[in-house]
Amino acid sequence: MNVYTPHKWELSSLTGISDETLQIHFGLYEGYVKNTNLLNERIGELRAAGKNVGSDPAYAELVRRLGWEYNGMRLHELYFDNMTKSPTELKSGKLYDALGAAYGGFDAWKKDFSAVGAMRGIGWAIAYLDPANGQITNHWITEHEMGHPAGFKPIVVLDIWEHAYFRDYKPADRPKYIEAFLANTDWAACEKRLA
Ligand SMILES: [Fe+2]
Repeated sequence: MNVYTPHKWELSSLTGISDETLQIHFGLYEGYVKNTNLLNERIGELRAAGKNVGSDPAYAELVRRLGWEYNGMRLHELYFDNMTKSPTELKSGKLYDALGAAYGGFDAWKKDFSAVGAMRGIGWAIAYLDPANGQITNHWITEHEMGHPAGFKPIVVLDIWEHAYFRDYKPADRPKYIEAFLANTDWAACEKRLA
């Protein structure tokens, strides 16, 4: 079984997202990596002992948690990977056209993506590409694992958990955090995901 190693990012001095928030957030991310590895290890031990029995609550609970920890790990990697301290405005090109295609333009996509991000609850706003037809649509993910369209590719990934913005904004000011995220988005990194 592969063991996952935490990634490192040189993110700091972002617009509207403090270094303190980022540092705490990196620490939370490392917890997901640690727990993904731990789950795989524990499940592996049960399997080796022939105790991988579906009706056993101890085994079932460990397996059930995989979706939460794996997605918590991977989504944070996608989130930090699609932010940059030297952003450039997206004004044209392949990603600009792709994001706007289903929404009548890039600005309309942005408005919709921000609306998804402003939904009540904790989770993620993700612009997902359907590889079957090339269309990008915005999705709400509850916690880390509920709502992912199977087989779709994440293109723009925004963390909407409270830890992502509560140090920098009041709870009711989540739209300001979303605005800050969009000001720091690494569009070039997102465009690469289209390939
Ligand atoms: Fe997070």
